Amino acid sequence: MKRALPDLTIAPPVEGEKVTIVFHADGRQYDLPVLGGTHGPKVIDVRPLYAETGYFTYDPGFMSTASCDSAITFIDGERGILLHRGYPIEELAAHADFLEVCYLLLYGKLPTQSELKQFDDLIGHHTMVHEQFKRLFEGFRRDAHPMAVMVGTVGALSAFYHDKIDITDPEARMVATHRLIAKMPTICAMAFKYSLGQPFLYPRNGLGYASNFLRMAFGIPAQEYVVSPVLARAINRFLVLHADHEQNASTATVRIAGSSHANPYACVAAGITALWGPDHGGANEAVVNMLEEIGSKDRIPIYIKRAKDKSDPFRLTGFGHRVYKNYDPRAAILRESCHEVLAELGKNEEPLFALALELERIALDDDYFVQRKLFPNVDFYSGIMLRAIGFPKAMFPSLFALGRTIGWIAQWKEMIEAPDQHIARPRQRYTGHPIRPYLPLAER
Ligand code: SDX
Repeated sequence: MKRALPDLTIAPPVEGEKVTIVFHADGRQYDLPVLGGTHGPKVIDVRPLYAETGYFTYDPGFMSTASCDSAITFIDGERGILLHRGYPIEELAAHADFLEVCYLLLYGKLPTQSELKQFDDLIGHHTMVHEQFKRLFEGFRRDAHPMAVMVGTVGALSAFYHDKIDITDPEARMVATHRLIAKMPTICAMAFKYSLGQPFLYPRNGLGYASNFLRMAFGIPAQEYVVSPVLARAINRFLVLHADHEQNASTATVRIAGSSHANPYACVAAGITALWGPDHGGANEAVVNMLEEIGSKDRIPIYIKRAKDKSDPFRLTGFGHRVYKNYDPRAAILRESCHEVLAELGKNEEPLFALALELERIALDDDYFVQRKLFPNVDFYSGIMLRAIGFPKAMFPSLFALGRTIGWIAQWKEMIEAPDQHIARPRQRYTGHPIRPYLPLAER
C-alpha cells in the first residue's frame, strides 16, 4: 500500500514579498526581497546588503544561512524528512539499488531499465585504477588510519587525470563523476586490504556495486568469495542512506573547493578530510569507541551524566544533529538493518547493539536530550552493523565516504553548472588589533 506523502509545498512569497531592515541610528531603511523554493524555509536575499548598506550578515557555523540553490536533496529537520530529488529516503532505502540512487542524484530522475544498464556498463569501464596507483599505498604505514590513506590516494587521482579534466567541458565533468563513483569502492577496499597486509583484488564488473565492493574487501586470491545477499543488501542500503545530505560540512567543503575550479578529484579529497571529523562522518567510529568504553548497561548513567556536564567535553556521540530536531530517518532504517544483519550472522546477542538500544531508550527519556531534541543520527547504529559485517572501526568513516562520494560529486557538478557560479568567498567580523605602525626591533 502506497504510503501517503506529507504535503511539504510552501506557499510562494506573495507578489513583491520583502523584508525591510531599519537602521535606527539614522533611520535608513532597505528592502530585501524574499525568495521561495519548492519545500522548506523561504530565504531573505541578502546579496545586495553589503553593497547597499556596508553591513555584513553574521552567521558563524551557518546556522541560518542558505549558501546556494540546490535541487538534489531536501531535509525537513523538524519532521525528520529526507528526500532525494523528491523521493523519500525510506522508499529509496527499501527499494533502490545504490547505482539507481547515483543516477537519480546525478541526472535528476530514476533511470529506466535500459538507462540503468547503460549506466552500470559506463561505471564498469572505470572501476579499475592505474597500475601505478597501487604504489601510492606503500608510502603509508600499515596501521595508518584508512581515512588518511583515502585522503592521500583520492587526492592523488588528481595527478592521474589533471591534464584530462577541463571542468568547462560537460563531457569531461561527467567522466570525472563516473570515474569517482566507479573507483571509490576499489580504493576503499584497497585501503582496507593494505591495512590487513593482504593483496588487492581487482574489481569484477557485473557483480553489482555493493557485492563488488564486499568481494574486493573480504575476498582473497586463494579462494572464491561468495557474497552473502543479506550483507550485500545491508551495504547497498548503507550506501543509499549515506549518499547525500544537503549542505553538510563535507559537501559544503567540496562546493567551496570546487568553486575555484580546482580539480574535482582534489575537491573530493577535501570532502573526505572534512568528513573525517568526529563531529561529522567520523562519529560512526566514535560511537563504537564510546559504546566499548561504556561497556555495560549499568554504566550508562555515568555517561549520560557526563554528556550533560558542561565542564566535561564528553558528548553522547551519534546523538544530535544541526538540522534534525527529530529522529534522523536514516538512523531508524539503520537500526532495522542492524537487527537483520545480526540475525543473519547469528549475532543477535551482540552486546554493543543491546547497549546501544538501552542507551537510546534512556537518553530519549531524559529531559536534557528531549529538550535539546537530541535524537540518534545516522552514525549511531551504522558502526554496529559494519562491525558485524567484519569491518574494523577505523574503516567506518571510509565507508561513509564511499557512500557520500556521489553526493559530493553531484553537488560539485550542480555548483559548477549553476548559472551564477563564482568563487565562494565568505567575509568576517574583524575582532583583531586596531591599525598600528610597525615597531622597529630595537624599540620592542
Ligand atoms: C553527521 O550535517 C549533516 O547533515 C551531517 C550528517 C550527514 O549526513 O552529512 O548528517 C552526518 O555528521 C551526523 C552528526 C554526527 N556527529 C555526532 O554524532 C557527534 C555528536 N553530536 C554533536 O557533536 C552535535 O550534535 C552536532 C555536531 C552533530 C551538531 O552540533 P550543533 O548543531 O552545533 O549543536 P550544538 O553543538 O549547538 O548543541 C546544541 C546543544 C548544546 O547544549 P546547550 O549549549 O544548548 O546547553 O545540545 C548539546 C550541546 O552541548 N549537544 C549535546 C550533543 N549534541 C549537542 N550534548 C550531548 N551529547 C551530544 N551528542
